[in-house]
Amino acid sequence: MADDRLDIIIFGATGYTGKYVVKNVTHMCKEQKMKFGVSGRRQKALETVVKEFASDIENVPIILADVKDEESLKKMTKQARVLINCCGPYTLYGEPVVKACIATRTHYVDVTGEEQFMVEMQLEYNEAAKEAGIYVVSACGFECVPSDLGIVFTQEKFGGEVNDVEVYMKMWSTSTDNKGPYLNYGTWESAIYILAYADKLQKLRNKLYPTKLPELTPKLKSRSIVHQSDVSKGWSVPLWYNPDRPLALRTQRFFYENYKERPAQVQYYGTIGSFFNLMMLAIGGLILLLMAHIACGRKLLLKYPSLFTFGLITHENPDPELWKSTQFSVTIKARGWTEKLAEPTDKHTNPPNKTVITRVSGVSPAYEATSVMAILSAITILNEAGKMPDNGGVLTPGAAFGKTSLVEQLNKHNIKFEVISSTVK
Ligand SMILES: NC(=O)c1ccc[n+]([C@@H]2O[C@H](COP(=O)([O-])OP(=O)(O)OC[C@H]3O[C@@H](n4cnc5c(N)ncnc54)[C@H](OP(=O)(O)O)[C@@H]3O)[C@@H](O)[C@H]2O)c1
Repeated sequence: MADDRLDIIIFGATGYTGKYVVKNVTHMCKEQKMKFGVSGRRQKALETVVKEFASDIENVPIILADVKDEESLKKMTKQARVLINCCGPYTLYGEPVVKACIATRTHYVDVTGEEQFMVEMQLEYNEAAKEAGIYVVSACGFECVPSDLGIVFTQEKFGGEVNDVEVYMKMWSTSTDNKGPYLNYGTWESAIYILAYADKLQKLRNKLYPTKLPELTPKLKSRSIVHQSDVSKGWSVPLWYNPDRPLALRTQRFFYENYKERPAQVQYYGTIGSFFNLMMLAIGGLILLLMAHIACGRKLLLKYPSLFTFGLITHENPDPELWKSTQFSVTIKARGWTEKLAEPTDKHTNPPNKTVITRVSGVSPAYEATSVMAILSAITILNEAGKMPDNGGVLTPGAAFGKTSLVEQLNKHNIKFEVISSTVK
C-alpha cells in the first residue's frame, strides 16, 4: 500500500453517526499520530463538519464522493489505508463502497446492523477481498461488537471448553426528564430494512453455509418468551430480529473451521426493567414487523416515524445530551467444562461443570460508543494486521479482532469488558 495514503477516511462524515466519528477520530488519530480525511457528497456540509469537530487539526482533506458515482468512490478509497463507512442504509448504499475498497486495496469497516447486507458481502466479496489482501469488517458498532467480541472474550477467559452462552442485552436511562427523538432518522431507515428482509435471511444463510455445524450436546434451548434471569435484572424476551445472534454464530463457525475450536451455542435476550414497557415494546415491535413487510407499510413508517414510535424517532436529529445518560450492558453467561477434549466435536461424558459470567458495559451505545468502536476497529487493522486472520477477507468483528488487543483498547476508552464470576461445581 502506498505510503502517501491517509490512514483513515470517514465516508458519510456529514451524517449523524459520521459526525460522532469525526469528533472522536480527531483526538484518537492525534494520540496515534495518524492522518485522517473526511468524505461525502456535499463540499459545504463537509467543511462545516471539519470546522465544528476538527478545527484544531491542520489541513483535514475533504474528498468528494457519491455512492452513485463509481469513479468518485474509487478516487476517494484509493487515498485511504482504511475506510470507515458511515453511509447507510447499507442494503441500499453499501455494496459500491465495498467494491471500490477491494478495487483500490483499501481496508473497510462499517457500523451496519443489516444482516442481509453482511451475508451478501461475504458471499460476493470474500474471495476478492482475500486476493486483494484487505479486510472488510462490518458491524463494528454497538451492533455487534459488545456481544460478538464479548463472547470471544468469555471463551478466552473460560479456561476450558464452552458449550453454550446466553447473552442478555439491556439499555436504560439514568435521567428522568429525557424528551425528544432518541434514534436518528437514518438509523430508523436502516432498522426498517432489517425487518423488511427478515424472512429472506434464512435462504441467504443457507447459501453462505450449505453444510450445518455438527450437533453439539447438551443442546441449548431458547428460554420461554418472557422470563426473569439470574444475570440480568428485569424482564427478558428472546431477540428474534436482532443481527447479533446470527453474526455471533458466523464468528463461532469461523473459529471452528479455521482454528478447530468448539463453536458455542448461542441464545440472545433483551431485558427491560418494567413489565408494562416490555409489553408496549413487544406490541410496537409486532406492528413494525408486519408493516415493514409490505411496501405501503414501509412508506408509512418512513413518512411518519413519530406517529409509529410515540415521538422516539422523528425527522429531527436527536439531542446528543440525551444519549449521555443512556447506559448499556451485555451480560454473557457461559456454561461448559473445565477440561478441553482433543477434538472440537468430541462428546463430553459428564454434564457441564463450569459457569463463567462476563459483562460488557458503557454509555451512549448508539452513537458515541459506536463511533469509538468503529475507530478502534480501523486503528486495530492498521496496527495489528499481523494478529488478524491472514490474507484478509470479509469477516465478522469477532473473527477479525478476536486475537488482537481490541478488547484492551475498548477498555481504555470506557467500553468495559469484565469477568463477573467464575464457578466450578
Ligand atoms: N451499529 C450500530 O449500533 C449503529 C449505530 C448508529 C448508526 N448505525 C448505522 O449507521 C448508518 C448511518 O446512520 P445515521 O443515523 O448516521 O444516518 P444519516 O444521518 O442519514 O447519515 C447518512 C450518511 O450517508 C450519506 N449519504 C447518503 N446518500 C449518499 C450518497 N448517494 N453518496 C454519498 N453519501 C451519501 C449522507 O450524506 P448527506 O449528508 O449528504 O445526506 C450522510 O452522510 C445507518 O445504517 C445506521 O443503522 C449503526
